[in-house]
Amino acid sequence: MGIKTTIRHIVPDGLYQWMKKQRSGVKLRTFLSRQRRQFMRTAALPGNEGEAQLEALLQYHAHEIEKGLSHNDFRAGFGRRAMWFLADILARWEKHGYSWNDFGVRQALSVLRQYKEKHAELGVPLPDFFQQLMGRWTDRIDTADLNASGAALFEYQRPSEHRSYSQVLMDRVSLRNYSSEPVDEQLLVKAGTLAMRAPSVCNRQSARLYVITDSKILEQAMDMQAGMYGYAKPPALLMVTSKISTFVDVTERNEPYIDGGLYSMALLGALEELDLAACPLNTMFEKRRENGVRSILNLPDDEVLIMFIAVGHKPERTLHPKSLRRSPEDIITCIR
Ligand SMILES: Cc1cc2nc3c(=O)[nH]c(=O)nc-3n(C[C@H](O)[C@H](O)[C@H](O)COP(=O)(O)O)c2cc1C
Repeated sequence: MGIKTTIRHIVPDGLYQWMKKQRSGVKLRTFLSRQRRQFMRTAALPGNEGEAQLEALLQYHAHEIEKGLSHNDFRAGFGRRAMWFLADILARWEKHGYSWNDFGVRQALSVLRQYKEKHAELGVPLPDFFQQLMGRWTDRIDTADLNASGAALFEYQRPSEHRSYSQVLMDRVSLRNYSSEPVDEQLLVKAGTLAMRAPSVCNRQSARLYVITDSKILEQAMDMQAGMYGYAKPPALLMVTSKISTFVDVTERNEPYIDGGLYSMALLGALEELDLAACPLNTMFEKRRENGVRSILNLPDDEVLIMFIAVGHKPERTLHPKSLRRSPEDIITCIR
């Protein structure tokens, strides 16, 4: 008899399970510590100034300006904080001699040009901080590609009855403004049911969906989320979570997020298919917000937050950030 089987026979079951759990705990700590080291080494954290990391920061702050430009009621002179960050990162970019042809830097310069042009178009002066922070890159900004970012206009057209999958994918954009029409809860349940066709590891189906149409709870949850600040509250809100209790080994520690993400994408497709407007909203919260959302929605302890999705009927017309995609060569590697 092997040593493992011998121990299994002589140790009481409760103690044996406890020992196995302790072993899982040690393994989990090792995995998390490796994950921690990799994240600290390679994420766009302060001090990590590789081209990829600075590019990510440029994209992050450029998207803030892009969102500001896509508000239907434009607020002239917005974005001082994001501009400050962009100027700081552009200076670092220049210092390191990185390429001015990278996606993120082209996007940042483009959004800065759009910012300038939007103010000129409306006949309002640029805020003083723009020239102070960006004066150094005037030539680059003034010659940036206007198509690389900014706001696009959504105009409602009734979709054809039988859209292909690729048409649904191409038609979906995040919309943050909705018509005033309430959303039928049953339509959301229908989308949530269709999204259950998403695959999941061993078909364990860890994703859970909360459909929120109660205006008081919705408002509380949206205020806690705070990622759609400056927009009216949506008529409906979804919360996708994933149940940790469906996972059986510490090697699966990230799987709740993968399965939850797959479900969420299927759900976004289903909402588009049903001709609803939606915007995924992050749940990357610090403790206070996480606890707040958990308590507002009364979420069980074994569920992790994946994302909110704001939902409404499509408006006749609205602006939205262009959110241009990278070129496929940037992300696809063919291993032959
Ligand atoms: C997980 C996730 C979280 C997001 N969080 C927010 C958010 O908090 N606020 C927001 O306005 N947009 C949010 N978005 C929407 C993204 O900005 C948007 O998906 C991206 O710019 C691509 O644009 P598109 O969805 O129109 O194709 C989020 C998207 C995802 C996938």
